[in-house]
Amino acid sequence: MRYYVTTPIYYVNATPHIGHAYTTIAADILARHHRQRGDDVFFLTGVDEHASKVARVAEEQGLEPKEYADRIVGAWRALPERLNATNDFFIRTSDEGHKSFVQDFLQRLYDAGDVYQDVYAGWYCVGCEAFKTEAELVDGKCPIHETTPEWIEEKNWFFRLSAYQGRLLALYDERRDFVLPAFRYNEARSFIAGGLQDFSISRAGQPWGVPIPWDESQVAYVWADALVNYRSALSYARPGEDLGPRFWPAVRHLLGKDILRFHCVYWPALLLSAGYEVPQQLFVHGYLLLDDRKISKSLGNVLDPLDLIDVYGADAVRFWSARAVSFGQDGSASIDDLRERYERELANDLGNLLSRTTAMISRYLDGRLAARPSDDSSVRALVEPLAADVAKRLDRYDITGAVERIWEVVRGLNRYVESQAPWQLAKDESRREELERTLYDLADGVRVVAIALAAYLPETSPRILAALGGSPDEIAWDGVAYGLTLARDGVVPAEPLYPRIDAPTAAA
Ligand code: MSP
Repeated sequence: MRYYVTTPIYYVNATPHIGHAYTTIAADILARHHRQRGDDVFFLTGVDEHASKVARVAEEQGLEPKEYADRIVGAWRALPERLNATNDFFIRTSDEGHKSFVQDFLQRLYDAGDVYQDVYAGWYCVGCEAFKTEAELVDGKCPIHETTPEWIEEKNWFFRLSAYQGRLLALYDERRDFVLPAFRYNEARSFIAGGLQDFSISRAGQPWGVPIPWDESQVAYVWADALVNYRSALSYARPGEDLGPRFWPAVRHLLGKDILRFHCVYWPALLLSAGYEVPQQLFVHGYLLLDDRKISKSLGNVLDPLDLIDVYGADAVRFWSARAVSFGQDGSASIDDLRERYERELANDLGNLLSRTTAMISRYLDGRLAARPSDDSSVRALVEPLAADVAKRLDRYDITGAVERIWEVVRGLNRYVESQAPWQLAKDESRREELERTLYDLADGVRVVAIALAAYLPETSPRILAALGGSPDEIAWDGVAYGLTLARDGVVPAEPLYPRIDAPTAAA
């Protein structure tokens, strides 16, 4: 199967915060999981540069926008790198390959007869990079950014979105899973059903951006430029190779609920007009809240993901962000919760399970494990449904439910240790075989869990496999099955996976 997954491209007007890390982590979990399943995967992330708010910050710093972007882009490249995200490309909208693709794309809209010139006047929120209707404002302010929008009146090029209402409704009716979760599908569909207004795809009097091919006095509106990244990247990510035929339209877009309309309404209409197929699927997630408010630069309540990684490591941050809030819903994030999960779930549930397992194999079996899978083993019953259950959840983007399902097995293995009490079996020579079978099952269960967790914990999972005396990079998904551990010796007590952190509030 072809599996192309994207994050939104992030505005470079500030450095990354945990809300951005959130989407990148989710996309990486899906990308890694699909690679484990043997799928042909492409994972794209990157940055959105041609925004008015970017030009403004540059001006405040006395820099040309491009110069400013060149300086800050390093902080954005560091986000996927430090998170251990396996993106196959990092797009910048200032890439020449992107700009020429956008020009061709806009020309196609024009040639399709979907573009006309008109005067637009309205309230523009620079935070949203979008016009707001009076009805959307609260006390004259944008409810998301809590700022007063600016009155903008200019002659622009417009895209005939209104002409696509029927085709979009037909698309939504034909593909009930086009947008997930279902309540977001309903939200997008009712927005379309409520009537669509044409929107401006150009800006006058702004030098920063992609020039409109038939009118070089204007540049593309940031969204008409940014959305195209998902398709343009395929055309130049691999020099001399067009990945378009391979990965389009097998794309799954991940996005936050604040940019639902652009992705679920504007984007498919633009694609239809330009003669491209619409995406396979879009998944809309909620906000990570801090003190019940969206984390954002303009609200001043940011958490720097790189600070958290410095203290807890990338795996713990990935785990917490997948687990703390049900993916798709809004939910509160806190450093206390991260610390709690680090200690209770990662260090105790998982780390101690590995420590005990390897210590007992070393102590009671001299580090030697014979292959002893058995038909009536309770570990077999515990792990057998796991591969299908986790895959099914991840196919629905339920990264929270999938990791919870894996954790049921982790907890089950801990209960198994207690109920089997290998330390008792070891006292009785006549129960040697039972001891061997128990420790075999335990080691095999931990191996299964390590493979199932590889997409979430890419640093820890190979360490677990190696500690069990296996090969650290054997993580193919069909390894999530009982009884595949081979006989081995030389198992020694493992180093703690998650050492105590003495300064847990360092990042706070
Ligand atoms: N540049 C546009 C996207 C263009 S995509 C063609 C943009 N950038 S953004 O940097 O403002 O936000 C990008 C994504 O980060 C959005 O999906 C947004 O929802 C997500 N998040 C930003 N803050 C967030 C939280 N506090 N919580 C969860 N996701 C959040 O919009």
